[in-house]
Amino acid sequence: MYAIGIDVGGTNLAAGLVDETGALLCRAECPTCAERHQNEVLDDVAALTVQLAEQAGGLDEITALGLGLPGVVDVRRGELIFADNLGWQHVLIGEEMKKRLPLPVFAGNDANVAALAEARCGAGKGVESAVMLTLGTGIGGGIILNGKIYTGAHYVGGEIGHFILETNGRLCNCGVRGCFERYASATALILAGRKALSENPTGAIGRAAAGNPGEVTARLVVELAREGDRQATAIWEEYLHYLLTGMVSLVNLFDPEVFIIGGGVAAAGDFLLEPLRTRLPRMVSFTDADQARIELATLGNDAGIIGAAMLGL
Ligand code: BGC
Repeated sequence: MYAIGIDVGGTNLAAGLVDETGALLCRAECPTCAERHQNEVLDDVAALTVQLAEQAGGLDEITALGLGLPGVVDVRRGELIFADNLGWQHVLIGEEMKKRLPLPVFAGNDANVAALAEARCGAGKGVESAVMLTLGTGIGGGIILNGKIYTGAHYVGGEIGHFILETNGRLCNCGVRGCFERYASATALILAGRKALSENPTGAIGRAAAGNPGEVTARLVVELAREGDRQATAIWEEYLHYLLTGMVSLVNLFDPEVFIIGGGVAAAGDFLLEPLRTRLPRMVSFTDADQARIELATLGNDAGIIGAAMLGL
């Protein structure tokens, strides 16, 4: 039995063929180009599905398509209610995909499905409670309580990227100011890197990006910080400060057994993990209590694909 899982990100569509054990057998990817009309993006979702199905012997071999979507998803109706980083509202994804493919389609929030995969076969295996943060275009949240994904009464329950970190802070794509994801997503690193480039075009960031703001990536900023560049280190330290500040509130809200960190920024590995592990226990209010473990998503960036496929398995 196979399912196809697609992680519909603000930057890339990452797809995979997954078997009933949750093993990812092969992958395919293409840019989302989120400025396009949603129908064009969904056409690409269908094309990726067909492409991967061929690896399994055709669409007849596929049980279902599961989609992880970067927004608030009514999982019963298969409706994407609102996705700030795509600019989509009230899209009946299930119905749209059925026009394109002869397959059952299931949809969930991207970070919720990543948390589902991590809970079943990754860093959250066997735990009762976990908070997963995906640090990518936005910040996704997956909350595992009593071994189950908590979505809230109206599917907004895991929108960790939108809790307010700064009153009157940076304007978020959701329309509110000061959201966590404006400060601690990969996008925050990119924007800070671009600002540094414009202020100091001959600095290490400017040189590495050949003066082109479009070449500034989160990975580049992290690598230069790792090498000790002054500007990149300042950006990284500010980033860690905001991420940890958010995590302190999450401890006070949920007191999870474990934080699971995924998304593109998690590729920084120990360079990210070590300061989180050292500093969080010193920042929380109740230092005498036992502390949450902090782990990287063991399924890495594949968690979103595998979790999406699990919706259909
Ligand atoms: C959205 C979430 C999503 C996250 C990661 C946020 O901006 O509101 O629903 O999980 O980005 O894509």
